[in-house]
Amino acid sequence: MTSVRIDGLSKSFGGRKILHDLDLTVEAGESFTLLGPSGCGKTVLMRLLAGFDRPDAGTIRIGDRLVAGDGADVPPDRRGLGMVFQDYAVWPHMSVADNVAYPLKIARTAADERDRRTRRAIGQVGLAGLEARMPSQLSGGQQQRVALARALVSEPSLLLLDEPLNNLDANLREEMRFEIRELQQKLGITVIYVTHDQEIALAIADRIGVMDETGRLRQVGTPDDVFDRPIDAFVYRFLGVANFVPMRRVGATWLFPDGAAVWPGEAPGLAGEHATFGCRPFDIELARDGDGLAGVVRRASFLGAQMDYLIEAGGVTFRAATDSRRALDPAQRFEEGETCRLAFRGSQWFDTAVADIEGGAR
Ligand SMILES: Nc1ncnc2c1ncn2[C@@H]1O[C@H](COP(=O)(O)OP(=O)(O)OP(=O)(O)O)[C@@H](O)[C@H]1O
Ligand SMILES: [Mg+2]
Repeated sequence: MTSVRIDGLSKSFGGRKILHDLDLTVEAGESFTLLGPSGCGKTVLMRLLAGFDRPDAGTIRIGDRLVAGDGADVPPDRRGLGMVFQDYAVWPHMSVADNVAYPLKIARTAADERDRRTRRAIGQVGLAGLEARMPSQLSGGQQQRVALARALVSEPSLLLLDEPLNNLDANLREEMRFEIRELQQKLGITVIYVTHDQEIALAIADRIGVMDETGRLRQVGTPDDVFDRPIDAFVYRFLGVANFVPMRRVGATWLFPDGAAVWPGEAPGLAGEHATFGCRPFDIELARDGDGLAGVVRRASFLGAQMDYLIEAGGVTFRAATDSRRALDPAQRFEEGETCRLAFRGSQWFDTAVADIEGGAR
């Protein structure tokens, strides 16, 4: 178990600045996920942490030890960390046991100690009994576990995982993310996990850092914080599907884009005349009547776990969703062309224009 402290970290490639003066502290024993769009600099940061690249400026401390910057440059194998990177290569010509034992062999660990630790790491990832198999005889998920065992075999106090589940199908990805979380809690190890998948990030994190496309950390907080109390529209949008509606204030009332429908809730207390109202599909409650915003269902798609609606209301098209139990009840199901009323159970207001929000997260 060890903490990681990053201060003022910067890195450029070919004159392009990828990381700008980044500060971040990950606590000992914490599962921290770094969430950001493709190309924002997540792998660049992980390579700096691992010691494959050197920072242009700033320092990295692992535990009490300065490992990079200020004259320090500790090589990767001396940083006490295990890692599984995006292209988690397991060596095809080596058995499971040999793959896992490899880092210990390089470190010239004595044979009996090596066997003991290899067996333990293979057990930790649930592959006991498959030691002699070759990677080609394993499923994608099992190969993933081999890579994980190889990262754990040196008993690191810090584990760096860079999109390790990318190559797996959706079901396996879901299963593995719970396993990684369980393993992290059982071993009490510090994990930094990089992904652009918000579901994985939410599922395994104690805290999440949301990075924007310019490589800056927009918000660091618990899953609840970033999901429900986003610091800005970028974070809100990045954490899941959202409707964004340009609203206009006239006196104390906020009008929807049709210029007639009035926002029924509390005024958000924004000073300007224009603001963006955001809500997620599940924030919208549909009713046949009542005093909600009047709408017409334009599309109704049954997706198994949920019913997905496109609804025209207030001069815009909303995406709404209900769980399938309600959708399967004819009394609560809406068909295309039907009128309905929308109530908003959750909402977020931003003083940013919709175009800036929608352009910004791409
Ligand atoms: N060695 C390098 N030389 C030049 N440019 C690089 C190098 N490594 C990374 N970059 C650039 O830095 C930027 C960030 O790359 P990085 O690999 O960190 O993205 P990422 O956030 O990991 O994206 P993804 O989610 O797709 O893996 C990209 O524009 C990439 O082209
Ligand atoms: Mg990457």
